[in-house]
Amino acid sequence: MGKSEAAVVARLAADTKIGYSLNRKFYCDDAVFEADMDQVVGRKWIVAGHVDRVRNKGDYFLYKIGNESIIIVRLMPADFSKKDNGLHRCHIRVFYGFIFINLSDEAPVDFDASFADLAPYLDFHGFADAKIAHAQSYPTTANWKLIVENFVECYHCAPAHPEFCSMHPPEALIAFGAGPSSGPADAVEKYLPALKAWETRAASLGRPIGTVDDGPESSHLRLLLQRTIREGYDSETQDGRPASSLMGKRLGFDQGRMYLSFSPFTQLVATNDFAVLFLFTPRSTLHTDVDLYWLVDGKASEVDVKRMIWGWDETTKQDKEITENNQAGILSKHYQPGRYSEHERRVVTFQQWYLAQFGHVLA
Ligand SMILES: [Fe+2]
Repeated sequence: MGKSEAAVVARLAADTKIGYSLNRKFYCDDAVFEADMDQVVGRKWIVAGHVDRVRNKGDYFLYKIGNESIIIVRLMPADFSKKDNGLHRCHIRVFYGFIFINLSDEAPVDFDASFADLAPYLDFHGFADAKIAHAQSYPTTANWKLIVENFVECYHCAPAHPEFCSMHPPEALIAFGAGPSSGPADAVEKYLPALKAWETRAASLGRPIGTVDDGPESSHLRLLLQRTIREGYDSETQDGRPASSLMGKRLGFDQGRMYLSFSPFTQLVATNDFAVLFLFTPRSTLHTDVDLYWLVDGKASEVDVKRMIWGWDETTKQDKEITENNQAGILSKHYQPGRYSEHERRVVTFQQWYLAQFGHVLA
């Protein structure tokens, strides 16, 4: 990171108050974006795609992040000489079907120390052998941090996402809207017995039960939450009926879901018969690629794509609009950092984590 970028971030960080949105320059300034690329994006393990995109020898795809363009290729044909076609290499690791890249010039943060404990959950869902049933892009004219902030808090879900809310118990959204037990104490108390009963039942159907809730000092700010979907629903579809066959090692439908955040850049939401992989890829100060991949079991033979994508396609289009409006408001010279509700815990945790990447403690 250049000295001037470090100075810009240090000055802005010192000016940031906990519990408030960030100073506008964090969302609009090119020097901050450069610093983000150097200090945050460029040092993390970020998912670029799923191995199903490169099933056969010679298959490849391009992944663009910031100003970098990365070719991800499966075992080049024998006539390709890496020596003569000397491209720069980046760190890569395939973990349960997810292709992680790391742009760090130095030795990156240890992959296994960062992610190995997620193995039982990823194994249960069968992600290593999963296949992509549908992909869609929602490029968004907003800074990457606004997309993350919107995604990690669900108190805007009730007014903004009718389709999403129709598939979930309202008490769960209130109790767990921005991280485990982030909601009001009475809402948490009301939902916990139903959650405990579900955990017992889900465990009997093979599901590993557990929670991950990384704090601001962690390398990747991971989150893993499992909870119920709407009563009577087997899947996150409009009518609650599955759109594909059971994924992975499941013994039966358990009426639950998993939300797993590998990092602020990579989110995964899994219902029993399909999962959605969200890639939030910073491209420039005001542009972020938002790419969704719907994954199904590797052996699934009949997938109802239209019914499968209904919920997250609608929700992501709504989030694109909300986030772009939010960015437009922040571009106004009259923007001032606004106060968060005490229940928007995960947004504050994200900001603490983000500033910690620059050595700043937000407390
Ligand atoms: Fe949203």
